Amino acid sequence: ERLPELLAAMPKAELHIHIEGSLEPELIFALAQRNGVALAYPDVQALRDAYAFTNLQSFLDIYYAGASVLIEEQDFYDMAWAYLRKAAEENVRRTELFFDPQTHTARGVAMATVINGLHRACEDAREKLGVDAALILCFLRHLSEDAAFETLEQALPLRDKFIGVGLDSSELGHPPEKFVRVFARCRQLGFRLVAHAGEEGPAAYVWSALDALHVERIDHGVQSIHDADLMRRLAQEGIPLTVCPLSNLKLRVFEDLRQHNLGQLLEAGLVATINSDDPAYFGGYLNQNFIETFDATGLGARQAWQLATNSFTGSFADAQAKRRWC
Ligand code: ADE
Ligand code: ZN
Repeated sequence: ERLPELLAAMPKAELHIHIEGSLEPELIFALAQRNGVALAYPDVQALRDAYAFTNLQSFLDIYYAGASVLIEEQDFYDMAWAYLRKAAEENVRRTELFFDPQTHTARGVAMATVINGLHRACEDAREKLGVDAALILCFLRHLSEDAAFETLEQALPLRDKFIGVGLDSSELGHPPEKFVRVFARCRQLGFRLVAHAGEEGPAAYVWSALDALHVERIDHGVQSIHDADLMRRLAQEGIPLTVCPLSNLKLRVFEDLRQHNLGQLLEAGLVATINSDDPAYFGGYLNQNFIETFDATGLGARQAWQLATNSFTGSFADAQAKRRWC
């Protein structure tokens, strides 16, 4: 059997997808019309043409602008449902969705509107699509730790509807240390913990995500390759890395997909996984990430099996579900 078909057909988990990053230009325009929100672009094509990123920040500016069309609970549901249907088609059995509440509450959208819309889509996914979906609330690291505490406070009445917290947005200049107290509180509350680290930022941010925030997984983490001690630790402790190859390509973390270090991370024994990050912006959902990365870097069936296994073992699904998948 050909490799692309195997990659598409194999059951897998997705552990790094920002649900706001699944908002396709067509849905952005439909929601803008439905809600009477003005956009800076005249049509879908003009918006797509603006997706020419040079680094993380150039993407984030346009990603937050796109999210401004989300107002009602049904908008959040529709966005998540569109992604979950796609995930089901791609043989994703488990998915852990990041969401950025501060991007919405700052515009006057209630926390319950965001979480209830997303959560209802996750429930429907289990029932109607056979996809096991869970939510992870991300704090925006370009904002203050006080703002993160306020966000946590607003979300706690809905705590049964999300399983963990993460840290995303502009990495450089916003090290994990900035959020030590709020992550300590989340840990006390029993949330699962993850953080973006070592995407554009240095390997030192991966160390501090582990030692200062006590996260269980590292999102991206590709800069870990520059620190041999860190590589040994990640391998020894089995800390999963949620790697996003097409994102890394579009945000110029790697010049060319052929230079991507996923193969080296696997070779070093790390629990690396493939994920889509923001599929509507980076030119592909999960299977496209698998197919293009395998094609460019020459990975084969052995790595395909390893990546699928890593995705389930690295997930926060309960032990019984993991046994069913692995
Ligand atoms: N928010 C959405 N995508 C992100 C990424 N790749 N890095 C940091 N923050 C993000
Ligand atoms: Zn991300």
